Amino acid sequence: MGETRSAPARRTASIRVRALAKLNLSLRVLGVRPDGYHELRTQFQSIALHDTLTFRSIGGPFCIRCDEAGCPTDAKNLVWQAAQRLWAAVARPGPMPGVSVRIAKRIPVRAGLGGGSSDAAAALRALAMLWRARVSRERMLEIAAEVGADVPFFLHGGSVLGLQRGDVLVPQHDVPAAWIVVVVPPFGVSTADAFQWFDHRRGGGPALANDLEQPVAARHPESARLVQDLRDAATQAGMSGSGSAVFGLFDRRTTAAQAAKRLDGGGRRVFLTRTVARAEYARMTRLAR
Ligand code: C5P
Repeated sequence: MGETRSAPARRTASIRVRALAKLNLSLRVLGVRPDGYHELRTQFQSIALHDTLTFRSIGGPFCIRCDEAGCPTDAKNLVWQAAQRLWAAVARPGPMPGVSVRIAKRIPVRAGLGGGSSDAAAALRALAMLWRARVSRERMLEIAAEVGADVPFFLHGGSVLGLQRGDVLVPQHDVPAAWIVVVVPPFGVSTADAFQWFDHRRGGGPALANDLEQPVAARHPESARLVQDLRDAATQAGMSGSGSAVFGLFDRRTTAAQAAKRLDGGGRRVFLTRTVARAEYARMTRLAR
């Protein structure tokens, strides 16, 4: 994303970067692929809710620290996997250098908001700078897709159509700016489970913008109730990705704030946020020394 600098070599103390969440404004499952993944047609949208990551070269081994208990700090974290794949791709001798990664986690996990994937994309960009690795944009997108199907989207941001596994991307015109209420119920959903529930669904639910919404609601009725509540108040509402987060889009901040207040409680987490257009995404996710 244009962060290759020709500045004179100097010691990089640390690099800080925001990792923004996404919504899937729509998600159609078109079939099952020979590789076991599902063929998708999904409308990704960046939102202002974000994690902040700080990368620092250290003498010791690679390590991740996170202020959120549900966030893995070992090789299960996509940041770790991104680092390993990037290091393999640059083909330098020796083991992966020591880096400490601090993740200030604000994006709920297992919510379909892409937090782990966005952190991984941020890590690819920050580590390429930290390691002074020359990696073409095409190669970065390939590495991102190896880390996870959602990760390449976060190297674009804004409004993007995702095809195939969700990793073949067609940037769209920015959607009209909107306020967003994101409601995260007190349960999470694993992406693999949601796709399995879709495969095993019985009968058809109502036609919704997200094909995973009905199979998830069949296991978690609260999900359908929350979407219905948001749908009554918002211009558009649905579940994001494989859930569990649901969202509503609003033209006016005051209407959004009223809905956010009404839905707060019962162990739910509620966020009042907004859409982020592509140019703003580039500004907000710029690498900072
Ligand atoms: O690519 P990622 O590891 O994020 O995907 C997690 C899981 O979600 C996959 O292992 C797969 O079970 C499911 N998935 C799918 N089709 C997609 C994306 C994800 O079946 N297009």
